[in-house]
Amino acid sequence: MGERLTARFDLPVAYDVVFTRRVFSGDNPDLARSLEPRAAGAPPRALFVLDDGLMDARPGFLGEIRAWADAHGVELAGEPLVIPGGETCKNNPRWVERLRDAIAERGVCRRSYVVAVGGGAVLDCAGYAAATAHRGVRHVRVPTTTLSQADSAVGVKNGVNAAGVKNFLGCFSPPDAVVVDPDLLATLTDRDWRAGVAEAVKVALLKDPAFFEWIEANAGRLAGRDLGAMERLIRRSAALHLSHIAEGGDPFERGASRPLDFGHWAAHRLETLSGFGLNHGEAVAVGLVLDLAYSVRAGMLDEAVAERVWATLDAVGFTLDSPLLTDGAGGLHPGLLRGLDDFREHLGGELTIMLLSEIGRGVEVHAMDPGLIEAAAGALRARAAGVPA
Ligand SMILES: NC(=O)c1ccc[n+]([C@@H]2O[C@H](COP(=O)([O-])OP(=O)(O)OC[C@H]3O[C@@H](n4cnc5c(N)ncnc54)[C@H](O)[C@@H]3O)[C@@H](O)[C@H]2O)c1
Ligand SMILES: [Zn+2]
Repeated sequence: MGERLTARFDLPVAYDVVFTRRVFSGDNPDLARSLEPRAAGAPPRALFVLDDGLMDARPGFLGEIRAWADAHGVELAGEPLVIPGGETCKNNPRWVERLRDAIAERGVCRRSYVVAVGGGAVLDCAGYAAATAHRGVRHVRVPTTTLSQADSAVGVKNGVNAAGVKNFLGCFSPPDAVVVDPDLLATLTDRDWRAGVAEAVKVALLKDPAFFEWIEANAGRLAGRDLGAMERLIRRSAALHLSHIAEGGDPFERGASRPLDFGHWAAHRLETLSGFGLNHGEAVAVGLVLDLAYSVRAGMLDEAVAERVWATLDAVGFTLDSPLLTDGAGGLHPGLLRGLDDFREHLGGELTIMLLSEIGRGVEVHAMDPGLIEAAAGALRARAAGVPA
């Protein structure tokens, strides 16, 4: 037997998620307070990375950032970099390279910050570049979509797409802070506005029945772009996601169980099969109702619960059907089941899928029956087409 030495240590991790309004105004200290100086007496230094969709929607945004930096004594590491929003920045490796080049050329050190302002895709891409340059430059996220504010930005994952697989290259790297401002959501398209509600429904179904009931009762306000309702949804959803990460016992997903991926095995496939024509939230909405229809057919869930979730997502405006669920002959789409294989491979062990037995109670299973998936998919398609069950 050889000699065995063991290195064992814990790394304390703490970061704040701050909820605020008018984040870039000269008198709002929340973002600047999240940035520590590089050295005693020196100002904090930040390279801003901006989502081009946000830039197009907010003329004058560059000026707002310069004025904010002046007002708060933050040194900008050159002009903010603008990168394409949505999956474009995660699909084409040149954008990560652009970010890494900028970090190198502008002397962004490990005590400087990359501050990413944008949707989940831009935050994933910028977070990945920051986490890998110099083995980790500090990064702060300012999410500007409902989905990133309610879910993706508060977590510890970063990544880009490669080898034909979503998020194939990535890392677990907690942000230094997250600053959430619902005022930034006003310019979203209706599709991106509603996307975050799917993730909130997902986490509510698993962890907080009262929150699900609130979403159910407020679906009309959410569909009607009521900012107060959306702010409330985002705060509760973000808090539930954050407490799962901080207190769930597996922040870096070492185990096979990923409860927050409820509805996601099909969602990831639908996004890919649609060439990203479906956005993440839209695909999650379909993935959720599919797994609920499956739960009913597996004898685990009362059909009335699946109906309530369907009605809620429908009232928020989601299309709960996709031609990508089935083939032309009414069978299952040949590409869909690969979602289960992708999950098994990504987890690296036993397949683990979250289903539901009642609101607030998830149940993990280690296999899914293709015949029942086909029946569930067929039922969704028929329901969406208005055919009685
Ligand atoms: N890291 C994680 O834990 C995690 C979790 C869930 C999802 N994600 C990722 O997040 C991405 C989806 O993020 P998303 O739903 O935020 O969408 P997105 O980042 O794809 O953005 C959607 C669109 O909105 C535009 N946009 C962003 N902010 C805007 C604003 N305020 N006004 C107008 N337009 C704006 C963008 O340019 C883009 O065209 C996916 O790549 C998904 O894989 C990551
Ligand atoms: Zn998701």
